[in-house]
Amino acid sequence: MVRQHVNPLSRLYQLPRPLPSLPELFADPALPLHLDIGCARGRFLIAMAAHNPERNHLGVEIRRPLVAAAEAERLSLGATNLHFLFCNATINLETWLAALPPGRLALVTLQFPDPWFKSRHHKRRVLQPPLLRALAAALAPGRELFLQSDVLGLIEPMVELVEASGCFHRPLEDARPWRGSNPLPIPTERERLVLDQGLPIYRVLYQRNDAPPPPLAPDAADNPADADPR
Ligand SMILES: C[S@@+](CC[C@H](N)C(=O)[O-])C[C@H]1O[C@@H](n2cnc3c(N)ncnc32)[C@H](O)[C@@H]1O
Repeated sequence: MVRQHVNPLSRLYQLPRPLPSLPELFADPALPLHLDIGCARGRFLIAMAAHNPERNHLGVEIRRPLVAAAEAERLSLGATNLHFLFCNATINLETWLAALPPGRLALVTLQFPDPWFKSRHHKRRVLQPPLLRALAAALAPGRELFLQSDVLGLIEPMVELVEASGCFHRPLEDARPWRGSNPLPIPTERERLVLDQGLPIYRVLYQRNDAPPPPLAPDAADNPADADPR
């Protein structure tokens, strides 16, 4: 059985992990990279990789059984522009993003992240200042960050964080506060469920501008694991 949620701040998920080299992950490591954070069972990214052979696709996920299932499907399909890795995004992604060749990252998607509704659990949410800063450092001007959620109280602080960085802008033609539609050709699993229920989805597409990544506030640079050792 796959657990519904895991606590990313638990000691189990604090180990540093190196990013395998891109040639170990993809047949053509020079292709632009789409990173999907919290990819779950990976069906969205499997379809995206088939749809867009001119890009590599990396799905990262904290629930190991889902990574194993996604990798098994990828292998059975023989997809060579796709890979899934076990990763705690709040702990591992900063170093992984810094290890990418400059300009390689084309698109980052963060779709329907776990809301962690209780305020004492907000620190478990995936988009924290150090990760946002690492994304800003790894994305070249013009490259994209796409966020979507069905939880207004989750996406609003994400938008606040992204916009406070000064590193991203929205395409001028986009409706505000939320895009009218998904710019990507394939819905995620969670997105399908929400659409089937006729519930609203809040979406924002950002483009990286040329502002330098903001300095980290000293408290944001602390390891969040220090705060919640369970
Ligand atoms: C609600 S699901 C959405 C899955 C998928 N993006 C979709 O839209 O269908 C959120 C996913 O993010 C994963 N996740 C949560 N925190 C994470 C973290 N710190 N690092 C990596 N994955 C994480 C969860 O395990 C879960 O699979």
